[in-house]
Amino acid sequence: MMIPSIDAGNSRFKCDVADVAGNPKLITNRFGEPFTPSAVFFAPDGEIIVGTEAINAGFVEPSRLVVNWKRAMGTDEPLYTADDGTVYHAMDILAILLKDAKDNIEAKTGQVVNEVVITVPANYTDLQKQQTIDAAQKVGMKVLTLPHEPTAAALGNELYKQSNSTALVYDLGGGTFDVSIVQTKGNVFDIIATGGDPNIGGRDFNDRISEKLLEEFESVNGFRPSEDNHAIFFQEMSQKIEQLKISLSVQAQSQVVLFCQGKQLQMTVTREQFNSWVRDIAEKTIQKTRQVIEDANLDISQIDEIYAVGGGSMMPIVVELLEELICKKISKRCEPHSAAAFGGILSGRLEKQHRGEKYTIGNVVLPAPTTIVHEILSHTIGVLTVNEDNNEVCSEILSKKTPVPSIQTKVFQLGQPNQTEVIIKVLEGEDGKDAGDCLTLGHFELNGLPPRPDMIGRIEVTFSLDNNGLLTAKARDIASGKEEQMQIDYDIKAKQADAA
Ligand SMILES: Nc1ncnc2c1ncn2[C@@H]1O[C@H](COP(=O)(O)OP(=O)(O)OP(=O)(O)O)[C@@H](O)[C@H]1O
Ligand SMILES: [Mg+2]
Repeated sequence: MMIPSIDAGNSRFKCDVADVAGNPKLITNRFGEPFTPSAVFFAPDGEIIVGTEAINAGFVEPSRLVVNWKRAMGTDEPLYTADDGTVYHAMDILAILLKDAKDNIEAKTGQVVNEVVITVPANYTDLQKQQTIDAAQKVGMKVLTLPHEPTAAALGNELYKQSNSTALVYDLGGGTFDVSIVQTKGNVFDIIATGGDPNIGGRDFNDRISEKLLEEFESVNGFRPSEDNHAIFFQEMSQKIEQLKISLSVQAQSQVVLFCQGKQLQMTVTREQFNSWVRDIAEKTIQKTRQVIEDANLDISQIDEIYAVGGGSMMPIVVELLEELICKKISKRCEPHSAAAFGGILSGRLEKQHRGEKYTIGNVVLPAPTTIVHEILSHTIGVLTVNEDNNEVCSEILSKKTPVPSIQTKVFQLGQPNQTEVIIKVLEGEDGKDAGDCLTLGHFELNGLPPRPDMIGRIEVTFSLDNNGLLTAKARDIASGKEEQMQIDYDIKAKQADAA
């Protein structure tokens, strides 16, 4: 049995399998590319094309191309509506990309893949994780585990080989940004704080550059191309921006040439100019990084090493600001692109060990890894309660940084005398925060409570987090013993509104 590790990136998919020694081995796609662009093209004849070919097809019909799927996970935002009216959400796009990855791995290895490790952003919500599991299930793969991307990147960079070290992992991808602080003590690998921003990624840098190039195009040519009327121009510009970013990560200046309606913009962009365009976005990631260091109760001087991963961390402005913040150079041993997928292989082996199952390569059973990883919860979760001032607030049950897996019970009183039913609304947000400002994860009901005039301590709510940080909530009426387990009925619409 073979269990690949897939780093399902907003921009690129990276796939690994374990070699006979259990070490990660990158699997190139059938075009020989090490990474597959996370792009899906819906051809007019019904064919669904993935990767570089999808991007190429998108130059002809941009409206049939879907990219940037990841931030829409957990929402009901439609990413594409097919000619037959079928609506594709982020989860469906992920399923298509995963199917392509599965087909590639099977073609390359000659083995069937029915179990997989998928890395996810550390700040993914419960629903986003659940949808990742569902998308894999839809294409015939059972998810063994969903390691957090910065944790996987730390494992992939073999940080566990450092016996006593505190490292900061900065992961700026195409769509999301994660930071984690990892402490190694002997063979124990502790994630002591995690944070970031699910809404910062390389695409925001691209949007900013696109804005600047459009301004320039307009000042030279007297008109501004619009996405509605010049879709192909925009598709070409996005490719040129990708090339520009990569060139400017290596050299001090680069050329951009854009054509629209017989007019052109030819421009030399210097690294200084580029940095001035995007500095505020890079600075935002630095503020978030500082916040995570504070959350870890560490002084900057206590960070021994920096690992900067994700394609976005290749930008010199990011390197400069990060090294300035930590007063250290980024580790030379750092692998920025493949580390998360590499680490997913070890996460899979650890999960098998945790379940008491064997990890086999062909007929060979690999020895259990000796590393011990302690993951933490990235968000505080609680339930909606009404406080003394009659305001609806979040009452924390599991705080951010709680070790995963975990179980915690709290007792709440009913709101009214003789109340016979209660709705338990599960929120993601800090303790005491206005419920309206929290993310609603879902709700469930406990009905048929025997009416009693007293309201004191009756409802016991238990949250348990499994090894992937997925939540199960249970409520029990202490008076009658009646209990309900939550099958999260995710409030997707509420979630989308919350995120807005
Ligand atoms: N050399 C480089 N210089 C600057 N930016 C780069 C470079 N290489 C890649 N990128 C940018 O990095 C991003 C892709 O990185 P990566 O593959 O780590 O993201 P991802 O894993 O797909 O996204 P996410 O982690 O958000 O899901 C893109 O925005 C790309 O433009
Ligand atoms: Mg990534």
